[in-house]
Amino acid sequence: MDISQLKKEAGVKACQMVENGMTLGVGTGSTVAYFIEELGRRHKEEGLKARCVPTSIRSAQALKKCGMEVCDIDKVGRIDLTVDGADAVDPKLNGLKGLGGALLWEKIVAENSDHYVWIVDESKLVDALRGKVCLEVVKFGSGKLLKQLEECGLNPSFKEGENGPALTDSSNYLIELDLGEIKDPAFLANDLKQRTGVIEHGMFLGMVNEVIAATQNGIKIIK
Ligand code: 5RP
Repeated sequence: MDISQLKKEAGVKACQMVENGMTLGVGTGSTVAYFIEELGRRHKEEGLKARCVPTSIRSAQALKKCGMEVCDIDKVGRIDLTVDGADAVDPKLNGLKGLGGALLWEKIVAENSDHYVWIVDESKLVDALRGKVCLEVVKFGSGKLLKQLEECGLNPSFKEGENGPALTDSSNYLIELDLGEIKDPAFLANDLKQRTGVIEHGMFLGMVNEVIAATQNGIKIIK
């Protein structure tokens, strides 16, 4: 099975958790796109209704296109269930997110959810977190911030869009750190959070309740 088929399996499996009338957080990315597609199918064929809180403009558009109700996060109470993707997940269920550029809204939605689930293909399951850590940063002084991060050996670079630096849905910039194994994720997360100009980072530590991983040997549910 190729990766996109595995992503689809994870998305379809997660959709089985959605109950009629739920307030549902909906993540961003290519795996979540399959989850949204399945929501649309259930809406059309079974009359499934859920109030969806999207984590990006992209996901909001996809949800609307398949007939799902889209709500502002501040117009709903607690979110019953949020389903999102991830870039890497370690055995303690700490993860890296944000390569799709939506980490800030994703973290806000996650923190306001009663049950938080990641859907991944098996390539995302890692023994230790390493690689790209994404930061959403304010534009003002972001060049200075990049220099500081460089001096700390964190290998930062601006994420590029089509016409210059990529912009998030909140019109901020994104900086990606290219790291080796992250020996102490909590220390790094704390360090990044405290830097002026960093709005949020893509380290999601101890947040997820459940991971639905699609593997060549079937679906694995890790709690
Ligand atoms: C976007 C994200 C995505 O969930 C993450 O990048 C995984 O994406 P994909 O399902 O396309 O591999 O965090 O900000």
